[in-house]
Amino acid sequence: MCGIVGAVAERNITTILIEGLKRLEYRGYDSAGLAVYSAQGALERRRRIGKVSELEAAVAAQPLSGKLGIAHTRWATHGAPSEHNAHPHFSGHDLAVVHNGIIENHEELREQLKGLGYVFSSETDTEVIVHLLHHTLKTQPDLTEALKVAVKQLHGAYGLAVISAKQPDRLVAARSGSPLVIGLGHGENFLASDQLALRQVTDRFMYLEEGDIAEIRRDKVSIWNQAGQAVQREAVQYHEGAEAADKGEYRHFMLKEIHEQPTVVQRTLEGRLGSDHVLVQAFGPQAAELFAKVRNVQIVACGTSYHAGMVARYWLEELAGIPCQVEVASEFRYRKVVVQPDTLFVSISQSGETADTLAALRNAKELGFLASLAICNVGISSLVRESDLTLLTLAGPEIGVASTKAFTTQLVSLMLLTLALGQVRGTLGAGVEADLVEQLRRLPVRLGEALAMDATIEKISELFADKHHTLFLGRGAQFPVAMEGALKLKEISYIHAEAYPAGELKHGPLALVDNDMPVVTVAPNNELLEKLKSNLQEVRARGGQLVVFADEQARMSNGEGTHVIAMPHIADALAPILYTIPLQLLSYYVAVLKGTDVDQPRNLAKSVTVE
Ligand code: F6R
Repeated sequence: MCGIVGAVAERNITTILIEGLKRLEYRGYDSAGLAVYSAQGALERRRRIGKVSELEAAVAAQPLSGKLGIAHTRWATHGAPSEHNAHPHFSGHDLAVVHNGIIENHEELREQLKGLGYVFSSETDTEVIVHLLHHTLKTQPDLTEALKVAVKQLHGAYGLAVISAKQPDRLVAARSGSPLVIGLGHGENFLASDQLALRQVTDRFMYLEEGDIAEIRRDKVSIWNQAGQAVQREAVQYHEGAEAADKGEYRHFMLKEIHEQPTVVQRTLEGRLGSDHVLVQAFGPQAAELFAKVRNVQIVACGTSYHAGMVARYWLEELAGIPCQVEVASEFRYRKVVVQPDTLFVSISQSGETADTLAALRNAKELGFLASLAICNVGISSLVRESDLTLLTLAGPEIGVASTKAFTTQLVSLMLLTLALGQVRGTLGAGVEADLVEQLRRLPVRLGEALAMDATIEKISELFADKHHTLFLGRGAQFPVAMEGALKLKEISYIHAEAYPAGELKHGPLALVDNDMPVVTVAPNNELLEKLKSNLQEVRARGGQLVVFADEQARMSNGEGTHVIAMPHIADALAPILYTIPLQLLSYYVAVLKGTDVDQPRNLAKSVTVE
């Protein structure tokens, strides 16, 4: 959720820390802070509520410099957003820690440490770590060794970094449940919760694994695994274009990411399609053998990724004839699940670090699933590392909190999965795979055509700017698309939006419809269109304003209170991917009209690594 940056160098690292925090700001942003070991031999700290720019201003007003330091952006979990709850937390004057995650036994530790005379200055769970370490240092004076001892008492999730004024030759770090990466420089080394924070200083990284402890010095990195053995972690060169964290010509990351969709969908398809079929090996070397055994699919995900899973259920059952269940991870992980024999467990996640999705995967391993597959956008994420098979969505870094290009690349990947499973199991109808492979190849062009409707949608968005409630309707695989449209609108414009399968309208929500409640509908030209049209009549008869995204062949026209936006024609199976685009643009333009913080909507964080 939050962001960590650390550095040990021969130069002043304050600006490196602040720049790193800015790059991580999209993950959590209620407060920020840093601590630096100064030339005077003391730890100096600055903390501020709000954005990193507030911290930057505080540092400019009261400069501090040093060659060793740690920094943090916080998204409150324990204790309100405030300066005294912001990280780094100190024990005495000489020891500082920053932490991502949650320490579950913090209350018990707090009581013990209070009993030992420690005085707490925050309500955070993090502060127990620094006092615990301080206490451990009394019997184990080496900082690295003391950290190895202290973390054994922590229950929960952490990625943490520590510096000490008494041992300023190093930065020490521990990972359990929250990612950490070491950035390798020349005569200087760095640490962060995401390599994006360090791309300004290096492109060589070493990813810590679960349970690792690291000692990072200017000229040496040492790592010990969970069992306490010294280990080497591979140094990896990162290739993503440096422009990924840049808005370029766009006003917001979200708009840039919406417009990147033809390119990233193309990239997600590359190397995965044969002339008329999907390349099953794209899912991993054992995929063909495993897929042949699959009789059921269980999909688990959160938020937007869950909506992608819901679309996939229609595809898997309709096209590949494979029974499929879909569930939100926070429910799945806590209920008793009955697993059908030969069920493939599929997790979907942009970040690959979502706490509920990861926990669901870990539970699934105990439940007798055939195998686990991660559909994920981050190749070095925990979800990928812990799954048997992976298909990466190659959307590139997604900075806008509201997920856009991650969703469409997830859908494309799930269509590849549907076709691969159907192919191996021989359950696809004749010609279905060849036809859909052909349509997938043309999809980037269709997406470009939908994006060209940008100005029309911007105009339509004016209808929503003064509204408080909206309904989104769809049928079949377009129902989850309507859900995703509603989620986007509420996330970034703060307008209450709900999605319903259109057939449910008269079972309740129709009571809400009046002139003040626009109804957005996705209406491709399929066998459900006529039914959908009668649902829309029901809305019009109650004075509801309709905005309908309809296939150009659907023979629907504008009229009093009905705004029809003609969509490029596309094969029905791929329509959910195409119809997502105008809904993303609609939310974006409504949010711009309302003047909200589009890329960092209130109360939300990009990667939900805590429960
Ligand atoms: C919505 C959004 C969230 C995420 C959800 C899961 O725009 O971004 O609903 O989809 O938090 O995140 P991932 O996909 O990273 O597991």
